[in-house]
Amino acid sequence: MLTSRRFLAATLLALACASALPAQSARESANWWKNAVIYEIYPRSFQDSNGDGIGDLNGITSRLDYLQKLGINAIWLTPIYPSPQVDFGYDISDYYSIDPQYGTLADFDRLVAAAHQRHIGIIMDLVLNHTSDQHPWFKESASSRTNPKADWYMWRDPKMVNGHREPPNNWESLFGGSAWQWDPARRQYYYHRFYIQQPDLNWSNPQVRQAMYSVERFWIRHGVAGFRLDAITSLFEDPQDRDEPYVLGPNGKPLINAYGDKVVQTIYTDDLPEVHTVIRQLRQVADRTAGRKVVLIGETYLDSVADLRSWYGVHNDELELPMDMEIGFINQWNVPLFRRRINEAETQIDGHEPLFVFDNHDNPRWDRYQFDASGHSVFGYGPYHDNIGRVLSTILFASRDTAMMYYGDEIGMVTTPPTRKEDVRDPIGIRGWPQEKGRDGERTPMQWKDAPNAGFSPAGVKTWLPIPPTYATWNVAAEEQQPNSMLHWYQQLIALKQQDPALHAGREIMLNTADTHVLSWLRQASDGEAVVVACNFTAQSQTIRFDLQPQRVTGQRLHTLLISPGAPAPDSLQSVQLGPYGVYIGRVR
Ligand code: NOJ
Repeated sequence: MLTSRRFLAATLLALACASALPAQSARESANWWKNAVIYEIYPRSFQDSNGDGIGDLNGITSRLDYLQKLGINAIWLTPIYPSPQVDFGYDISDYYSIDPQYGTLADFDRLVAAAHQRHIGIIMDLVLNHTSDQHPWFKESASSRTNPKADWYMWRDPKMVNGHREPPNNWESLFGGSAWQWDPARRQYYYHRFYIQQPDLNWSNPQVRQAMYSVERFWIRHGVAGFRLDAITSLFEDPQDRDEPYVLGPNGKPLINAYGDKVVQTIYTDDLPEVHTVIRQLRQVADRTAGRKVVLIGETYLDSVADLRSWYGVHNDELELPMDMEIGFINQWNVPLFRRRINEAETQIDGHEPLFVFDNHDNPRWDRYQFDASGHSVFGYGPYHDNIGRVLSTILFASRDTAMMYYGDEIGMVTTPPTRKEDVRDPIGIRGWPQEKGRDGERTPMQWKDAPNAGFSPAGVKTWLPIPPTYATWNVAAEEQQPNSMLHWYQQLIALKQQDPALHAGREIMLNTADTHVLSWLRQASDGEAVVVACNFTAQSQTIRFDLQPQRVTGQRLHTLLISPGAPAPDSLQSVQLGPYGVYIGRVR
């Protein structure tokens, strides 16, 4: 868990073919990323093609037909560069190559070409904030105080207190402990926002910028459709190295986190204004190099939806898609709160395209929202697992947004954390055990079929993380056979997002805004075509009605586009019945 950052059948009616190609591909249209569906793959865990227990690029290529049928527009690959794998790829030791355990540059080029044929773009993860301590840049920088790269990282002299050496200030690593590591050779500390093995680059140094812009050009020339900018809010720190204030608990004392540290704020280490200059430069490099649209996505955990506005750029010349974590990571099952935040995405970012995200490789999957009949939280396959999954996926795909989904969500995979400390692979889970079990639970191998190793690795191979025991029931092959499966729900919902004009790009207006049980909204295309969406947040059936006169929608009848399994299809706006955690999507006629 990233502590403070972390949080938390269908009736097939009148649907166009789910396997139809997305209308716009990642290289054919400048606006392909708007209202698109981006699928995050954690390469270690998607498909192992060579039987070493670790997923790889050829494995991903072999599954492109599946992804095309799902209806996605682009794949975001978490880092595949050579790396000591301390942070499973986020500690890069060479930005110009592929880690041999994932394949070769030729495999990557083949993946890009094969994806392109299927109208799918490949988005690379660009880790700009830090490198591995095994990167030659850092080795050189650490070798003396006078070498040509001496100033490429954040080196500081110690603070001497009563004759003892101490770190320059109280800044903390997000992964536990002081953010400063003593280097005996240079007799200085270096700063690391994440693991000790991930020293932060000094972005005030123009040579660092140029080095990273070269990396950006390299991958654009290899055909990528965009970049996901890792930890982009952390590039700069306070030049005066001021201490962070502590986060105080109700008793007025600093809160203590899972690592035993006093929790500090991040006003001097996060979201400093200088980062915007860098993003504009990244934008210019992309525009000048590509001759096509290369989309920039930011990992932007911010305090409010409105805070996203500045990341698009004052002149709209920064990120296309700063991630909106305010909606996906609300982590409260609360209709008014969802309504307010979704409405903010519609009204407070000047009409820019929001990017909704509900889970990823750093956060538990959507089974974190699961309840029993009395409304108590349960995890995994609770009694309403599928229905609640339908609610969350409907918010993701039927909103006016670009939707970012995580591999395995479409088959309802659940978070499966390790049960014993000795099984943990993610270092933060070892350090923070048992309060912080790390991120292994959301990184387990993809469940392809009911076969040994779930079709991820060949039988008999020890996979890098265990296959969750639920694979026998929850897998692609089984769900392809079940008309009411989560997989079919996702395919239908994505097809609607791609093909229905109102659901693709129509404006979004919240409806029935006093209702605390059902979240409803209207999507309306520029030609007036209207679609209503309703999600029941309760375990009780609900009956609702819509009055669309204020929106000047005159029709009264409904044509069902998608509805939770077993529910009666309504024919009028006057009465729409929703079962427990039921969903309804219908066109107004
Ligand atoms: C965010 C990434 O998503 C996470 O997995 C990683 O550990 C940190 N950035 C550090 O790169």
